[in-house]
Amino acid sequence: MHLKILLAKHRQLPRELVEWLLAPIISAASTFCIWRKEKAWHYSPTQLYRRFWNISFDLVNGVSTRSITDPLARTSCGPGYEASPVFSFRRLLGHLNIDYAQYAFVDFGSGKGRVLLLAGERPFKQVIGVEFSGEMNDLANRNISLYKRRSAQRVVSLHCDAAIFDLPTEDLVLYFFNPFEAYVLERVLINILASLEQRPRKAIIIYLNLRHPELFDKLLGFWKQENWHPYRIYTYVPDEQSR
Ligand SMILES: C[S@@+](CC[C@H](N)C(=O)[O-])C[C@H]1O[C@@H](n2cnc3c(N)ncnc32)[C@H](O)[C@@H]1O
Repeated sequence: MHLKILLAKHRQLPRELVEWLLAPIISAASTFCIWRKEKAWHYSPTQLYRRFWNISFDLVNGVSTRSITDPLARTSCGPGYEASPVFSFRRLLGHLNIDYAQYAFVDFGSGKGRVLLLAGERPFKQVIGVEFSGEMNDLANRNISLYKRRSAQRVVSLHCDAAIFDLPTEDLVLYFFNPFEAYVLERVLINILASLEQRPRKAIIIYLNLRHPELFDKLLGFWKQENWHPYRIYTYVPDEQSR
């Protein structure tokens, strides 16, 4: 309860105070509570550190992006939602070494939109989330409207089935974090290839915790970049003549 009151008021407090003092203290306390409540000896120090970052991300920015672990909440929010880790995803985006302004970023199965907020910190031409659950999509758009650290020209979450989503025409960064079963993924990959054939352009696929490497390894024209554990990165560069 105290925590909620503090958070409700934190918008009036100086940002530095929230960011550097309050949020770390509250996050550490929350991580400790989780550690006790969820029998945290099951977690490694790295997992606890990741949880600390995830909690403080929401606290500092006044958003709600954490994973839904409650099985009852899951049924009302679609097939399930687990958010990508803040710390490693931010580092990964910085590592891409691209001219963001030339690219559109798409998160297939964007949930509450944490990845959209983080990608929106970079000057992408646009950042698009594709989300099957209407409830999640509403939460994501609410988070987008609350998030202040934005450099991308446009950030939006769309209520849409990934299998029928039309890709934007810019160069592409396409992100997946185990959003769906293999048959949907196959459909999405076919659409990606068709779109690149119709309009040749650069594309980067990033997959966190890849479950179906066989589908990606045979993806025409894509080659596997180095592993950025636990992310897999595949790149597609069209020939000069076809561009
Ligand atoms: C594991 S969560 C990933 C959330 C987000 N991408 C992230 O990394 O933080 C997977 C999301 O995919 C969504 N999803 C499942 N099937 C989908 C489909 N066919 N089209 C769009 N979204 C889908 C789920 O509702 C869920 O929110």
